Amino acid sequence: MGYQIAIDGPAGAGKSTIAKLLAERKGFIYVDTGAMYRGLAWYFLTKGIRPDDEEAVTKACEEVKIDIAYENGKQQIYVNDKNITDHLREEAVGNMASKSSAVPAVRARLLELQRDLARREDVVMDGRDIGTSVLPDADVKIFLTASVDTRAGRRYNELLGKGESCDYAQIAADIEERDRRDMTREISPLCRAEDAELIDSSEMTIEEVVEKIESFCRESR
Ligand code: C5P
Repeated sequence: MGYQIAIDGPAGAGKSTIAKLLAERKGFIYVDTGAMYRGLAWYFLTKGIRPDDEEAVTKACEEVKIDIAYENGKQQIYVNDKNITDHLREEAVGNMASKSSAVPAVRARLLELQRDLARREDVVMDGRDIGTSVLPDADVKIFLTASVDTRAGRRYNELLGKGESCDYAQIAADIEERDRRDMTREISPLCRAEDAELIDSSEMTIEEVVEKIESFCRESR
């Protein structure tokens, strides 16, 4: 079993930026579990499977082949041997993932993959249920959050930067809706593990957050 850093929190709290940087500095692999949920979501979309059709989702989970690989240190998602990583950030994929992640068969399918990676490597793993369910014995657990305003503002600027048109109020509403779905689902809802350190990044720089986590790592040794 390698060293495990678990980072959970709501959408847009900066988990992936922080986790990526931290993994790079420590020489660990970065396991983006959201990308795995998005990978299955992409598959459901291409097959026309609706997220509320639990039977069809469950059957698709049994049939689909999903693999995680690392190429130049970057996580890649293969679905039925096709690299679909470039599609994962699409809005429709994110929306589907937010819904299909509540289906037990989806979570069971990905849990094994996630634990298997952590058995073999030192990891920084981010998601919603890493400290509570996937890696309950992680060496360091972080619950990273930020106000809805901060998170919506970051997303807004990110989209503007890409030259996409966007509406701030709509982004904030989407974020709240995703939080609600993640926090109220029956299986592995988003919540802070009892032993997770709480970091509110609203008023912090990326560097400050990374340093804070590194200081928790030093304490845990
Ligand atoms: O973090 P990201 O936005 O990529 O995650 C996509 C969706 O996957 C989230 O909306 C969430 O519902 C789900 N997810 C999850 N558990 C995780 C990671 C992501 O339910 N560990």
